[in-house]
Amino acid sequence: MPRRRNPCSYLPRRLQIVTSLAAFLLFSILFLGTAQSDPYVKAVPYGPQLQSGAHQAVDAAQRAVQSFPKLPKNVVNAPAWLNPFGPPAHKPAEQKNSTMGEAKWFSDWKWQNPFSSSITMDEDRSVLPPERARPPIYTYFDSSSKGKDEKTQKAEKQLLQVWRRAWWAKGFKPIVLGIAEAKNNAEYRKMQGLELTAEMEAEMLRWLAWGNLGPGILCNWLVLPMAGYDDALLGFLRRGEYPELTRYPGLDGAFYVGSKVAVDKTIKTALASENIKQVKTIVGAVPKNSFILDDKHDGIAYYSTAAIKAKYPGLHAKLDSEATRADGLSLLAPLINSHLHQAWQNTFPSGIAVLHPLPKRTTTIHTPAMYIARNLTQCPDSPVPASCPPNAATCRPCVATQDRPISTPPVYRNDSTLFTIASVPHPYTLISLLYSRSDLHVKFVRRETDRDPWISATTDELLGHGPSSFARLRPMKDAVASEYSAHRTLWLIAEKPLSVATEADREELDWFFGFQLPRAATSNGKSITPVPGPERRPSPPPLSPYHDSIEPPPTPEQLATEEGFLRDSTAAIMHAGMLKVKNVQRNKGVVEAWNLADAEIWRFVRAWEARRSVERKIWDEEEGKFLGKGVFGRWAV
Ligand SMILES: *[C@@H]1O[C@H](CO)[C@@H](O)[C@H](O)[C@H]1NC(C)=O
Ligand SMILES: *[C@@H]1O[C@H](CO)[C@@H](O)[C@H](O)[C@H]1NC(C)=O
Ligand SMILES: *[C@@H]1O[C@H](CO)[C@@H](O)[C@H](O)[C@H]1NC(C)=O
Repeated sequence: MPRRRNPCSYLPRRLQIVTSLAAFLLFSILFLGTAQSDPYVKAVPYGPQLQSGAHQAVDAAQRAVQSFPKLPKNVVNAPAWLNPFGPPAHKPAEQKNSTMGEAKWFSDWKWQNPFSSSITMDEDRSVLPPERARPPIYTYFDSSSKGKDEKTQKAEKQLLQVWRRAWWAKGFKPIVLGIAEAKNNAEYRKMQGLELTAEMEAEMLRWLAWGNLGPGILCNWLVLPMAGYDDALLGFLRRGEYPELTRYPGLDGAFYVGSKVAVDKTIKTALASENIKQVKTIVGAVPKNSFILDDKHDGIAYYSTAAIKAKYPGLHAKLDSEATRADGLSLLAPLINSHLHQAWQNTFPSGIAVLHPLPKRTTTIHTPAMYIARNLTQCPDSPVPASCPPNAATCRPCVATQDRPISTPPVYRNDSTLFTIASVPHPYTLISLLYSRSDLHVKFVRRETDRDPWISATTDELLGHGPSSFARLRPMKDAVASEYSAHRTLWLIAEKPLSVATEADREELDWFFGFQLPRAATSNGKSITPVPGPERRPSPPPLSPYHDSIEPPPTPEQLATEEGFLRDSTAAIMHAGMLKVKNVQRNKGVVEAWNLADAEIWRFVRAWEARRSVERKIWDEEEGKFLGKGVFGRWAV
């Protein structure tokens, strides 16, 4: 009987080893590897992911031959999702408004899955966390220009803009209501028959407009969120459920929350009450127990006349006199903006970290982040310098002499007192910068470069040297998009970063932070008390991040070289469709396959940033419904 032949034995000897090793590794992956339980990995990959997993295994096998017996950690940690026995997945239906340029996304609870394509079946579509519902917050604005000069109207628009931006950044949907909404309420006719005091009529209009739309929050447009994103009251308000009609004693009649039923009932009760013609507020017209009182509202500032009189007497004097009222009003917006900026700075006492892993030869990709950080750490221009907002008896005003805390750590630090700005390069960009070359052909990439250098370097401190780059994806995605991180970090795409130099991007940043970043022009001549002149302000920190590391700063020639590579790589990545250079296309594919985790996180960040921008644009369109009724005209900045 002929000896049974090993099925591999017709192969050359070296290939035999490789094949057996690959088989062994695949075996260990499928049957042993799942010991590491990753509860978040439920969806089952197939198709491209499985293929790349197999590539990975074979690549690893090749490397294992070279450095036996050390098993490559990538492979051993990867397999939780490599389960071919699960049910096959289907490409999910495309969601509405889920693309912008080349960025595509799919919002789903499974967003923490290391690889999005295992859910979307599309290499370019990233899974993002579901968008948080934004509860509406309403303000009532009397847009009639009766008795208002142009300057006053402009100042009021600016104040409304400050109000909208601040609440948007804290996770709300700010909506400006007008007389049209009040008239829509069935109770409006009843009110017309009554002769109310002027104050009561204004109050009633607010409530009618609110009742027409509610439930939600009714807010004076001089009431602003003046605390960190995770302030207790803001967190409660963001949940969007307000079973009880509540008022806040310190915010005298300027802030209410309640359900629609309660609002309607209160309006009816008030209109039917006997003393409606004498009272000035709705609280006076209804029984005492109609409202719950809540006096914990430290996180909210009300720029009431009383508060302005007490805290900013100079400003109050201007507002008080008919001749200078418009001037005073136009100082209020910069004052509030400066307080919002300052409150943001105080939320992050450790300052700003501009993430800078792999510092050698990559200065260029972090420069835009550095500009944003420098703008953020500037002291805002204020008509009342070093003043505190009305909700804080004491605060840490931004003063010119204080340190500008910008650090450039090489690793991501999960510190709640630190704001992180990071620029994520596509692996193609990163490799071409790190190795100073633009021809990234397959031989070079596979022989000379390490895998996933960016994510490994970035999470080195957070996770240690141990985990594979795949195991780093989930914490990394968490650091970008989890509820905890989303307002503590700003992520940019190195090839197309938000830049303080363009107006559209600045606006994007303003809405993200909730205040206007300092523009280059200073508000000369506007302030009541002298502002420190430019000479008394310390100079901004250097753009080059090398003060944190032992590397010498790059020379101008080196920077120019870096910029050249960044430009080439940007052209290759961002205009891939247009640039029909086969070579580049293929090389990009090779680099992405070699750096699966780095490419994944790059696409994730690209989609994350794009979705934020789209969310706001959609709301802009939606808001037209309220503003379009001739109430307010277009927003003036
Ligand atoms: C969202 O989608 C609708 C149609 O589905 C489209 O009209 C609108 O322009 C899109 N908005 C944005 C901001 O892309
Ligand atoms: C802030 O941004 C502006 C661009 O509008 C720029 O001119 C200015 O230099 C930046 N400030 C700092 C301190 O970098
Ligand atoms: C950062 O720390 C917070 C609270 O300590 C934690 O909930 C979160 O998961 C951490 N994020 C990362 C990416 O480790």
